[in-house]
Amino acid sequence: MNVVLMQRSEAEHARFAADVRKGLSMPHKALPPKYLYDARGSALFDQICGLPEYYLTRTETGILRARSGEMAALIGSHATLVEFGSGSSVKTRILLDAVRDLAAYVPIDVSRDYLRRASARLAADYPALRVHTVVADYMELERLPIANGGRRIGFFPGSTIGNLTPSEARRFLRRAARLLGSGGALIVGADLAKEKDVLDRAYDDSAGVTAEFILNILDRINRELDGDFDRSFFRHVAFYNPEASRVELYLESTEAQVTHAAHESFVFRRDERIHVEYSYKYSIDGFRALAHASGLMPAQVWTDADNLFSVHFLDIP
Ligand code: AVI
Repeated sequence: MNVVLMQRSEAEHARFAADVRKGLSMPHKALPPKYLYDARGSALFDQICGLPEYYLTRTETGILRARSGEMAALIGSHATLVEFGSGSSVKTRILLDAVRDLAAYVPIDVSRDYLRRASARLAADYPALRVHTVVADYMELERLPIANGGRRIGFFPGSTIGNLTPSEARRFLRRAARLLGSGGALIVGADLAKEKDVLDRAYDDSAGVTAEFILNILDRINRELDGDFDRSFFRHVAFYNPEASRVELYLESTEAQVTHAAHESFVFRRDERIHVEYSYKYSIDGFRALAHASGLMPAQVWTDADNLFSVHFLDIP
């Protein structure tokens, strides 16, 4: 068991090093956003979710609370709830409270520790619930290693789908539909396009927590890949690009400089940017069209009074 874990973490380390070398050697430098989420990054993201400017979490939670009865009716009896990624347990619990007769709850996450803690807490609060954890990257999972348990309902909240490009999002939706199977359904949260200043503030908050979250990727590279990035020579830049309907998040070099990590050097011009994350924003019709083009049938959509956020119920034909 320990040997297997060791091999896995060595492989992950090698992949992180390769991704950083490749990403920082491209003409347009970029780092994959999944590396934002080490322990500190995950804690910072939790803080972001409670920021006054970051309306996404509280708005989606409000929609789920207000509509969980309708969602439960669409989910039906003895279904298996499959959650993609480490969702906030607050949101999951809203569904678990509304659908009392689930056959099983299947959280999928890359973090074994996260899954262990989350399932221990759920077992204490929902003693009758069967929890079947799956340690995997849901973008790479080929099939669900679970026995039959009624209709499978996927849950992908938080607008995490917005961190995928539209073509990655289509690939995710097709894969999810295959994993959940014909007759199943997927509940997805998607943030909506809106005024630029609201989005600019949501991703560049006044307390600087988002800046810290993005800069933390440099600390991670320094720690895990023996890097020498000086974060005082980088700054967080985030803005909504309405033409592309996405928020773009970068780290910008404030000086001409040379940095090192993973046995490689990287030359930066002054003002050169590393692209770290996109957060796509959809219209309701645009998201339904994306789902349809991926082979799912948009059945129901819920939003809040201010049309900030949307939650979609997509049937799998
Ligand atoms: C996880 N994801 C939905 C967040 C978002 O809103 O795109 C990530 C994030 N990045 C900066 N703030 C939040």
